[in-house]
Amino acid sequence: MKQEELKFAIRGTLIHAPSTGDIEVLENALLAVDDGGRIAAVTGPGQPDYGKLEQTAREAGKLEVLSAGEYLLPGLVDTHVHAPQWPQLGKALDRPLDEWLRKYTFLLEARYADAEFAERVYDNLVHTLIANGTTTAMYYATIHLESSMRLAEICLEQGQRALVGKVAMDNPEQCPDYYRDASAGQGLEDTGSFIEQVVGMPGNADRLVLPVITPRFIPACTDEMLLGLGDLAQRTGCHVQTHCSEGDWEHAYVLERYGKTDTLSLDGFGLLTPQTVLAHCDFIDDADMGVIKGAETGIAHCPLSNLYFANAVFPARKALDRGLQVGLGTDIAAGANPGILHNCQMAVTASRALEDGVNPDLSAADRGTAGARIDFREAFWMATAGGGEALGLKVGKFERGYEFDAIIVDTEMSDSNLIIWEDMDEGDDILQKIIYNADRRNIKRVWVQGEQVKS
Ligand code: GUN
Ligand code: FE
Repeated sequence: MKQEELKFAIRGTLIHAPSTGDIEVLENALLAVDDGGRIAAVTGPGQPDYGKLEQTAREAGKLEVLSAGEYLLPGLVDTHVHAPQWPQLGKALDRPLDEWLRKYTFLLEARYADAEFAERVYDNLVHTLIANGTTTAMYYATIHLESSMRLAEICLEQGQRALVGKVAMDNPEQCPDYYRDASAGQGLEDTGSFIEQVVGMPGNADRLVLPVITPRFIPACTDEMLLGLGDLAQRTGCHVQTHCSEGDWEHAYVLERYGKTDTLSLDGFGLLTPQTVLAHCDFIDDADMGVIKGAETGIAHCPLSNLYFANAVFPARKALDRGLQVGLGTDIAAGANPGILHNCQMAVTASRALEDGVNPDLSAADRGTAGARIDFREAFWMATAGGGEALGLKVGKFERGYEFDAIIVDTEMSDSNLIIWEDMDEGDDILQKIIYNADRRNIKRVWVQGEQVKS
């Protein structure tokens, strides 16, 4: 590689999940980033290009050497965040979903008619997510065009890879008068304008920030809206996001309205594409899984949110075993924690509860769902490359051609719960300990597309 094409190279211990369930720990590895922010090479001692590349980087003054106790991990991918709900984090968690939406969430989201209010919240949220190591986030904004644009601009300013949607919701039977699109036509027009404005945003030529077609969920939308958005998705090839079979109430509502599941209904509207991400999918059946797989649609698994609002947890093991594209989502604020590492823990925890069952009054045989557990390896896959796959982006792995989105986890800092014992921890123990014990303070540096966004 020529010196001038090299942005920088990093030498140290790299940890990533190259495929579902596999963790690779690469010691003394050398990773080169090209001037476009992509990974140009990943190599190790003993490989033919290692010495030459290290020499090139060193001579160019572009070699960074990690200290012992620093680990380079792929940046974390959050496939489902409600940005406007950030001020509500940790509140009203004792209400069922429909009441939580009506009594708290819609009232808060309506305040984003004020773009200054939006700016104050979004600036803080994006900063916080980056500090927690989230290098890619797929966001729902609100119904408001102007403040949704503010979110897109703030992501770009702060250098976070982001997919942002202006929320579409126009069904007067399910949405309050004070918070819904004036009509299907208006919502469709605003969605179209939003897509154009995000794509044309100054500084966004490389499409670090992408627009997303965002029907909130089936109950919130009229047929006209769903049809129109499906048509827009087919015509533009834009990403799509929505909620799918999240909880008992919502799943039953859709069965009643269309006589079929969310998955089949969304497919009928043209909303299941390879660029679609369905949040939750807790109640999808085998046929739904087949349709989602066939459409190459992604799933955002939001384990913490599931445990509070969904009446069930997503069968992650089954979906991964069938080769579905699954990423993790915080689902802020139904998931009351901004960290994807925390959601890795929760994904494992939720799957263990699903496997064993939790009702002590039932016999062991009747209590759980055999074979439902995942472990930290699958959780980390979903948090990184699995999320990348679900979004159709080349992020989440240390592999040539992938974008260099990465974090350094520092295990040597004082005042931290993350302690690595050199004589007792080895191999992927370190990753498991990071997942369970790291917090934002341990996330020392963050890069997106080769640019450092936290130092
Ligand atoms: N379904 C429709 N809107 C929402 C939301 O804001 N959060 C969650 N968890 N589910 C939803
Ligand atoms: Fe959600």
